[in-house]
Amino acid sequence: MISKLLQQARDYEREKRQEVRPEERPCYHVTGSRGWINDPNGFSFYKGEYHLFYQYYPYANEWGPMHWGHSVSRDLITWEYRPAVMAPDKDYDNAGCFSGSALEINDGRHLIMYTGVGKVMDADGKELHYQTQCIATGDGTDYEKYSGNPVLTAKDLPEGGSPVDFRDPKIWRDENGKFYAVAANATEDGNSSILLFESADGFDWHFANVLDSSTKELGGMWECPDFFELDGKHLLTVSPMEMMPQGLKYHVGHCTLCISGTYDKETHSFRREVVQPIDSGIDFYAPQTMETPDGRRVMIAWMQAWSNSRFVPRGVKYFGQLTVPRELSFRDGKLIQKPVRELETYRRDPVRYDQVEISEETSLEGIRGRVLDMTVRIQADGKFEEFLMKVACGEGYYTSVSYDPKKEALCIDRSHSGYMYDIVHRREFQVSPLNGEVTLRCLLDRFSMEIFINDGSQTATVTYFTPQEADGITFSAQGKATVSIEKYNLSFE
Ligand code: FRU
Repeated sequence: MISKLLQQARDYEREKRQEVRPEERPCYHVTGSRGWINDPNGFSFYKGEYHLFYQYYPYANEWGPMHWGHSVSRDLITWEYRPAVMAPDKDYDNAGCFSGSALEINDGRHLIMYTGVGKVMDADGKELHYQTQCIATGDGTDYEKYSGNPVLTAKDLPEGGSPVDFRDPKIWRDENGKFYAVAANATEDGNSSILLFESADGFDWHFANVLDSSTKELGGMWECPDFFELDGKHLLTVSPMEMMPQGLKYHVGHCTLCISGTYDKETHSFRREVVQPIDSGIDFYAPQTMETPDGRRVMIAWMQAWSNSRFVPRGVKYFGQLTVPRELSFRDGKLIQKPVRELETYRRDPVRYDQVEISEETSLEGIRGRVLDMTVRIQADGKFEEFLMKVACGEGYYTSVSYDPKKEALCIDRSHSGYMYDIVHRREFQVSPLNGEVTLRCLLDRFSMEIFINDGSQTATVTYFTPQEADGITFSAQGKATVSIEKYNLSFE
């Protein structure tokens, strides 16, 4: 049975989606039908298709009572809309269906585990919100909330855990079919813990252990945890809300972290070893991963950040995009991210330049466009003081990427990128050359750039909203920089 609230959202999105012309959306990055989206949810492979849900408020370009929107794909690159699957229509989730995850269970149903936010009034008439974990099952189109909801509540929390901030379950099964989930939980001391739960059937859940906890310098509340094994290590990814800056490694506020370590499956204990940022750009938060049928670990994230999201550029008819899905590996203590290989089948019209000397601002024949896959290799030979690349350039607009070899720092600056608000416009972070080069693989879509640096060992993501006619790309250097370029248009016709 579809509730009135969900039916209303489905009718609204179907009608309003038509008002957005295809060219007003990105070509290969997911957006909501209409209105607002944030975190990716329920990223999974089910019945021959990739399913991607997201935090969704169809009625406005701002965060509101959370629904779950839905898109599907066969190749992780081109996506189709499906009707929204959940609305905040139960007493345990009437303030929102918050983030969660999904997988297939033995009887063939698709099981979603999500956070229900329920509001209650206290004796003084004050509204209180409590977060619990809930289940819904479905067939890839329609989902029914479980009659036994909520399945994890305040009584399942370890001592000191807050029932107000208890959210974002990420579910998986081990090789024996047993279910596990990690969820984030604020603690009395202002920090948070990542809790591990277990279940034999996906419906009846029990607390197992605390996997890791935040301390002030690595953020207060950790949101959207994920936990998986990759190339012989266990990785815990989290999105801290109140990060302290640390040199050029971490910026203040919302961040994303990859914590690698060792995990003892018997005692369910995780020992932290290395902590690193996941993306050092401006617009990246709340990543979630899944395993593809051919065994790749693929991650997708909200291509936005909370601090910038209150300002929607004029004329934009939806708000929030998701990143390109990224294949992960773990090498020499580093998280490596690459765009999923399926993207390569959309490459057209190769243009190559080998060892070009750059000093004055230059544009190169065949190197322009807003939807492309371009790799720029900069020789770190000590012959220049700054290398500067501008993309989405024209009509007074551009987004720049500069490299300072002395400081070994890369800087992204979008202050001329159509966002006429005093939000975060600039991010600088440490990048050391790899084998004598700094390599930037830049994926451009109409309103964004994702940069995969030095073979994906660092990434930086930025969004911008400028007229598509601003499609120039220029290079310049103080001194002489030698660069090689390989560029493809990405075509989805
Ligand atoms: C992260 C987050 C989650 C929460 C959701 C609400 O961006 O705050 O912790 O479930 O967004 O929309």
